[in-house]
Amino acid sequence: MISSVGKSRYGRTSRKRKRHSSKRIFQSIGDEGMMIDLLKWMKSSGFRRQEVKPAVFSGTGRGLMAKRSFKPGDTIVKVPHCLLITTTTVLRSDIGPVIKQHPELTPRQILCIFLLIEKHKGRLSFWSPYISQLPDTYTTTSYFTDEELNSLPQHLHQKSLFQIETVNDEFQKVKTFSECLKSLDLHYIRLFTFEAFRWAWFVINTRSVYMDPDVSQWKNSHELDSYALAPFLDLLNHSAKAEVTAGFNQTSNCYEIKTHNSYEKYDQVFICYGHHGNEKLLLEYGFVVPLNYQTTVHIPFELILESVKSYHGRNIPSTVLKKKIKFLREHSHLSAMSELTCGYEGVSWQLMVTLSLLCTINNNRIHWQRICVGQETTTAEELKVTNEIANYILKNMRKQITEKIGRLSVGGHYKLLEDFLKEQLHILDTSIKLLAENNQRV
Ligand SMILES: C[S@@+](CC[C@H](N)C(=O)[O-])C[C@H]1O[C@@H](n2cnc3c(N)ncnc32)[C@H](O)[C@@H]1O
Repeated sequence: MISSVGKSRYGRTSRKRKRHSSKRIFQSIGDEGMMIDLLKWMKSSGFRRQEVKPAVFSGTGRGLMAKRSFKPGDTIVKVPHCLLITTTTVLRSDIGPVIKQHPELTPRQILCIFLLIEKHKGRLSFWSPYISQLPDTYTTTSYFTDEELNSLPQHLHQKSLFQIETVNDEFQKVKTFSECLKSLDLHYIRLFTFEAFRWAWFVINTRSVYMDPDVSQWKNSHELDSYALAPFLDLLNHSAKAEVTAGFNQTSNCYEIKTHNSYEKYDQVFICYGHHGNEKLLLEYGFVVPLNYQTTVHIPFELILESVKSYHGRNIPSTVLKKKIKFLREHSHLSAMSELTCGYEGVSWQLMVTLSLLCTINNNRIHWQRICVGQETTTAEELKVTNEIANYILKNMRKQITEKIGRLSVGGHYKLLEDFLKEQLHILDTSIKLLAENNQRV
């Protein structure tokens, strides 16, 4: 879902600089057949003339371009309620009566089913001008081949496998339900292939906007009903610097996006999908952003452990190490949520705590607890050792990623993968440099 919650961390000077370097690298696509059809169809349903138009931009692809300058507080897009696709749209459609008999269906499943059926209807569907201009395929990691998946760092690899499994599980549920649509049209059942379902799932994942679930009629215990597809508005690309207010306006009866940034005529206009690092952007939306300050490199715990062992040799008895690992687990430092990472600001606090604990020669649990809550109990010698091991780990990660880049093939999703991995290298280099500077201060 493309939530628009951006809060800029950048000043006015930086924004101005960026604007001048990136603007006017576009090619207008407003006159292309599918876009003309989309705009004509939307106009006939009450869509007013907008101050932005579709265009192709270098780096971000198809997006929306300002037809005039915008100042903070200006509305950039307004889509009338009748052009939004929500569960209410589906409940009012020909499949509504069958859907109503299946309260187990989640809002996302309902929207996927609707998209597949309306796509199948082709030009006979009211939604055809919208559906026909949607991308045919996506570049999220669920579309990666096994070989491409194997080139991902371990953390993203695991997340991707989990997502693939989730999409597959959802598909099985929807396929079972599709039997019930036979009564409406015998052909419907053949629409529910995995490929088709995955496409619909990622249409929702990459393009839906947030709607207040309280206004929904569909109540499902597994998922809040907060999805809406908003034609034209969903052409807005992501920038972490974009600040907007987005939501359904009851007075105008439109979904509206108001910008808090300034744009000049011909600039690309953005929203912010959330302050996500490249791992999340690639997994959920299929793109990466160069120099993304939210990105982190995940360090596998096995590598941390191996590094500590090889640094200390036989000095740490295995019973003590086992106790320390158990202790870390109890204090959730090894849970899936833990941040054993480094980023543009250096090594994470959690990674340093984990290392300090594994390296300390004091085996008193009280001492371990104090390390975990960040109390200053580490000696200068221990801190030096911790920094040295952190440095060793980062260099090891760097080597692994460099080897991965060296093995990448061409074509497919490899360019995207290369961009992702190169950003990881850049982060590791920055962290290694920061660590060296810290070491000099110890
Ligand atoms: C809501 S759609 C935006 C419109 C889309 N570009 C299109 O052609 O339909 C979201 C998708 O746009 C692309 N996208 C959005 N922001 C991007 C960015 N900053 N850089 C590259 N691709 C981006 C990604 O493919 C993403 O899944």
